[in-house]
Amino acid sequence: MIRYSVLAILLSVMFAACNNKTVTVNNTTTSVVKDTIEKDIHTLSNADSVTITHLDLDIKVSFEKKQISGCATWTITDSNKQQELKLDTYELSIDSVFVNGQKVTFKLDSPIKYLGSALHIPILSGNNLVAIYYRTGNNAEALQWLDPQQTLDKKHPFLYTQSESIHARSWIPCPDGPGIRFTYNARVEAPKGMLALMSAENPQQVNDSNVYHFKMENAVPAYLMALAVGDIAFRKIDDRTGVYAEQSMIDKARYEFEDVGKMVSTAEKLYGPYRWGRYDVLVLPPGFPIGGMENPRLTFCTPTIIAGDRSLVSLVAHELAHSWSGNLVTNATWNDFWLNEGFTDYFERRIMEAQMGKDYSDMLWELGYQDLVAEVDNIGKTSKDTWLKLDLKGRTPEDGLTDIPYEKGAAFLKLIEVNVGRDTFDAFLNKYFSEHAFKSVNTEQFLAYLQANLIRGNSTLEKNIDINAWVYGPGIPANCPRIYPDRFKKVDSTRAAFEKGMPASQLVTKDWSTHEWLQFLRNLPKPLTLPQMKDLDAAFHFTQSGNSEIVDLWYIMAVAADYTPAYPAMEQFLSMVGREKFLEPVYGEMMKRGKADMAKRIYAKYRANYHPLAQAVLDKMMQAPGKGA
Ligand code: BES
Ligand code: ZN
Repeated sequence: MIRYSVLAILLSVMFAACNNKTVTVNNTTTSVVKDTIEKDIHTLSNADSVTITHLDLDIKVSFEKKQISGCATWTITDSNKQQELKLDTYELSIDSVFVNGQKVTFKLDSPIKYLGSALHIPILSGNNLVAIYYRTGNNAEALQWLDPQQTLDKKHPFLYTQSESIHARSWIPCPDGPGIRFTYNARVEAPKGMLALMSAENPQQVNDSNVYHFKMENAVPAYLMALAVGDIAFRKIDDRTGVYAEQSMIDKARYEFEDVGKMVSTAEKLYGPYRWGRYDVLVLPPGFPIGGMENPRLTFCTPTIIAGDRSLVSLVAHELAHSWSGNLVTNATWNDFWLNEGFTDYFERRIMEAQMGKDYSDMLWELGYQDLVAEVDNIGKTSKDTWLKLDLKGRTPEDGLTDIPYEKGAAFLKLIEVNVGRDTFDAFLNKYFSEHAFKSVNTEQFLAYLQANLIRGNSTLEKNIDINAWVYGPGIPANCPRIYPDRFKKVDSTRAAFEKGMPASQLVTKDWSTHEWLQFLRNLPKPLTLPQMKDLDAAFHFTQSGNSEIVDLWYIMAVAADYTPAYPAMEQFLSMVGREKFLEPVYGEMMKRGKADMAKRIYAKYRANYHPLAQAVLDKMMQAPGKGA
């Protein structure tokens, strides 16, 4: 196990050039085993040696062929005499490559699992314009092509991308690592009558030419490249915020996101100016495989947060927070993913606290803590996969997509906040964001910065925080902060009364928010008896609830208890919703409860409605009977 003393971390930065050195501090000899800048193991590109600054993308979207085709032109400088540019590709067909207008002979390696094929292009010393003509493959991981019946409006097809973590390479030949940033312009030809949107300056309505132009003047990494094409409408929220959605969703979405304008100002008051110009949200069709994606200037989100009562908007606060933690200051490699997500969860809860009050954000913290406990239990208390610093060698970055970077990361920051006081911590974070703006940072660099700017040799503080235990140690350290919300204490006693036999109709649940209901449902025994299920359903109509978070838990309970009256609604839910977070536990419960036949029947029917990435996860689950999620 690599264990750094905090001082050694600082020294490892000072001695960055030396590898595997021994350093003696205060008579203690510590091995400094790593360079500060690690190689990103998930890119095959040589962007660390060649300077890549800008992309001009000129593409056409064909729904008939389910293909994107066109030209990606990279502005690069070969100042280190590499003579070769290496880019990431994933099942792309490369038709031709031109360097400064001259056709060149390129080489495409055979594919490596998860990573795809390196594209080798001979380049000249100095400045180069490298134009690559290409087409996407049939299994482009980033792309989901929806037939009209897979949209809400059911009239037009729809396309969207999901590039994080390493899927940008499946629709653009690019240097696909979070440590490599570039500006971009794009020209996108869409089918007649459809609107195209990107993570850039966006149009607000369809034009007659079918051609849309985009500009992103802030340098971004490839995982933040995004495109959506569909019959999309726009509504303004305020002068710098707005919402895009399918026609039949636009008014509901506009209502739900009423407070998004205020959220941006709240976030700015906490951690400095919003640097991206506009902030808009695009609500995607229900097959979107995740909750939200922080594409710069245009967050992509699932329609499953449109609950009708604005109760699930913390997801937008999360994606907005990434405009600082992630998009402005980016994890240098996917092993440092907690720098993106842990900071963002922390920031999300600070926004929600400012907007809704502490009793509200306390509930978010506690639900997150419960997720962390369950995740550690699931991964294993001693597993290295529960360290904040990940080691994803030989694996896909998505293997690191657990509650650890999110919840353990956020709890670690909360612990520091509690120890140094909020004002001091906020000043520190402000400075951290502004000093690292548009840069990528790895874990060791962050820890050195923490040491130099906050800990400053305060050994009591250092001991209380215990960085090693959190970052390079497993499980949940004993000093993990936890505040049990008063609102949940009330929920718990209501739940206890129900478990002891009080009829559901007599439970006092007035004014409960979604979070109180989640606390109630999560902690009920599983399975409940059929009469208990019936009683709850009659009193609270869970089966028919329009709240995705609530129905998801309820359908899991229904499967466990074999409560058949919920099955038609559950199947309806599974037929449309593609959000992995919901699908995995419901199908997983079926597998676990001896209902593999049911899982397979429903899955076979609706598999085509799910995103390729969700399909991959669920295919695997269906092949392993008895092993639920
Ligand atoms: N950036 C993530 C989504 C992501 C991470 C996609 C890694 C692919 C690989 C996004 O910000 C996120 O965390 N979304 C969450 C919602 C959030 C409220 C926890 C999700 O989609 O559930
Ligand atoms: Zn996130």
